[in-house]
Amino acid sequence: MKVIAINGSPRPNKNTVQLLNKDLAGAQAAGAETELISLYPLQYRGCVSCFYCKRKDKEHGTCIIKDDLTPIIEQLKSADAIIWGSPIYFSNITATLQALFERFLFSNYIYSADVPSVLGKTIPSAFIYTMNMTEEQSYQFHLRESLAPIEASVHRILGVEPLKYYAYNTVQFDDYSKFESSIFSESDKKAYREAHFEEDLNQAFQIGQQLMDSAQKYNK
Ligand SMILES: Cc1cc2nc3c(=O)[nH]c(=O)nc-3n(C[C@H](O)[C@H](O)[C@H](O)COP(=O)(O)O)c2cc1C
Repeated sequence: MKVIAINGSPRPNKNTVQLLNKDLAGAQAAGAETELISLYPLQYRGCVSCFYCKRKDKEHGTCIIKDDLTPIIEQLKSADAIIWGSPIYFSNITATLQALFERFLFSNYIYSADVPSVLGKTIPSAFIYTMNMTEEQSYQFHLRESLAPIEASVHRILGVEPLKYYAYNTVQFDDYSKFESSIFSESDKKAYREAHFEEDLNQAFQIGQQLMDSAQKYNK
């Protein structure tokens, strides 16, 4: 069983990656082979609307653009489970992860009255979100409503509703005094992390295990 984590954060060792590594540790503990793929070092763009993937005389399910994302899309298609990690940028996933979804999801989506997906399999997945917002603010800013459309597309095309985990009130800077950041209290941020981040990591580990359970179910 192969479980892939996609890192949609530009920062290689910060909140999102730490949680993704715990997800993968959970999947490994359940017997998975795992891989973390970071998107920001890759050179690629989103869908260019060429509709090659929808032509009747071509094989559906192939994105014809050739760039650094091409082998990643192939890896995702052969994965048994996927974890999508993203910081929240302007109340949504990062543009870099969105561009991957345009390519990976749209090429496997079909304008057919019969079937929505040509993927030919079910891939369980989970979204891990990290953000400055507190949980209360996430409701005030309607975060779940902003994320619902991409989660619904993942559900439709990968065949199963994704799991979701929200890590709130993350620490953004090691030293807040170096940055204009007067809307935050560094001590409150660090105290929150001290009290909650371990639990976020535990939850991430469990999500990795849950995804492996689902992957085994769909591979029977
Ligand atoms: C361009 C940009 C936009 C952001 N927008 C939001 C936002 O709308 N809401 C929020 O809660 N945090 C926002 N943040 C903060 C990040 O989501 C947060 O620091 C996250 O945990 C960073 O993940 P990382 O440590 O893995 O990079 C933003 C950060 C950046 C750089």
